[in-house]
Formats: sequence, structure tokens, C-alpha cells
Amino acid sequence: QPCSDLHGKHFAITAGPTRESLDPVRYLTNHSSGKMGFALAAAAQRAGAEVTLIAGPVSLPTPPGVKRIDVVDARQMQEAAERAADLCDVFIAAAAVADFRPERIAQEKIKKTDDSNRDTLALVKNPDIVAAIAARCERRPFTVGFAAETEKVLEHAKGKLARKNLDMIIANDVSEADSGFNSERNRVTVIDQTGGTELPSSLKTELAEQLIQMIATQAFAQ
Ligand code: PMT
Repeated sequence: QPCSDLHGKHFAITAGPTRESLDPVRYLTNHSSGKMGFALAAAAQRAGAEVTLIAGPVSLPTPPGVKRIDVVDARQMQEAAERAADLCDVFIAAAAVADFRPERIAQEKIKKTDDSNRDTLALVKNPDIVAAIAARCERRPFTVGFAAETEKVLEHAKGKLARKNLDMIIANDVSEADSGFNSERNRVTVIDQTGGTELPSSLKTELAEQLIQMIATQAFAQ
């Protein structure tokens, strides 16, 4: 049973991957399943919060009582996130947003050329969704990011906490077996300005309950 009552509080949560089109049949994406973000949305809703879940392309059912907004690419996710952030008290970025997108989306299927065995793809940087929300002067929600790292997990996560001006970052080592992308379980360290708390490997559904309580304690502390 959740110990903190989040009635009257509004959470906005991003989840899943983004999908960046190259042409009508191809895209760039990653292995995020949306499980972590959806579990957080369900846990916040069960604790009494109003929840807006901004979901990239995933095949998961919408948690009961949660308002879901489906998006495909990073720019659509940013638009939906900015709108939701205007109204929310807590913003949690669990989505694995593509850092880059193809510079151009070809109108027709890109053809391979017969005279070359090489090709190059021009990419441009996507907007940083969570950093833009954390940089707000007005209507800035308590802003929580995730850090998906494969090495120097704590060092890189602390760098992102500072660079993106976040209130909290949840670091996961995505190279670990049975953790991170598309797993039922995750093992994370919660980091804020005061230090880090390592949590044991747990089911994402259980971890989400614990994370929502930790976030609520920080966000709504008097
Ligand atoms: O979806 P699952 O299969 O359950 O897997 C869960 C997860 C591993 C995807 C999740 O726990 C996680 O770590 N999500 C963040 C993944 C990520 O892209 O991390 P990052 O270190 O690249 O980004 C740092 C933070 O900035 C994240 O909060 C991310 O949402 C945010 N970001 C990144 C780039 C961008 N353009 N906009 C962003 O908002």
C-alpha cells in the first residue's frame, strides 16, 4: 500500500523509445520497451496522482486511470511533454529519446546504388526534452531524469544531473544482465544533490512504487 497520498498532484511521465524516420519504410530507434515508464505511471496513479503518460511506440496496455498520449518521434514527444509540463507538479523522463534523427526524411524509399558498397547517413541532434523542461524559469515541475549508461554509471549520471539541471536522476547500468532495456527487472541508483541511494534489483513494477515514494518525498517536502 502506498504510504504517500498523491491526490491533487499531477505527474507527467515519458516512456518507451522514439522512432525517427529515414524514409517511408525505415527508421532509427532503440530497445526501450516502455515497461519502466508504464510501471511508474501505474504506481503514481495508484498513489492517487493524476497521471499523463507520453508514450513512444510500444506494445503495452494503458495502466488503468492514466491519460495516455501516443507519439512517434522525439519532436512529437517534446511537444506533448511541454504541454503536459505546463500542468504538472512532477515530470519524469523514463523515455529513451533518440539523440539524433536523420537530417532529411526521404519522400520515397531510399534506393541502394550499384556503384558503391558504402553510404553515409546525415544526422541532426534532437531537442533534449527533459533539459528544456528543467531549464524553465516559470512553471518548472520537479524534474526527474533517467540515465542509461554502459560504463562509469555514477560518474556519467552525476554529470547529467548537473548539466540538465535535474532535481533527481535514476541511473541504470544497461549493460547488466536482466536489467535496463526490455527486462522485467531493473537495478538503479537514485541520485540527487545530497548523494546516491543504491536500490537492489527488483521487478520494475515494485521498483516503480519505491521510486514514486522517493520522488514524492523530495518533491513535496516542506
Ligand atoms: O523502457 P524499458 O525497456 O523498460 O527500459 C527502461 C529504460 C532503460 C529505457 C529506462 O530505465 C531509462 O534508463 N530511460 C532513459 C534512457 C535514456 O535515453 O537515457 P539517456 O542517458 O540517454 O538520457 C538521459 C535523460 O535525458 C533521460 O531521462 C532521457 O529521457 C532524457 N532525454 C534524452 C535525450 C533527449 N533528446 N531528450 C531527453 O529528454
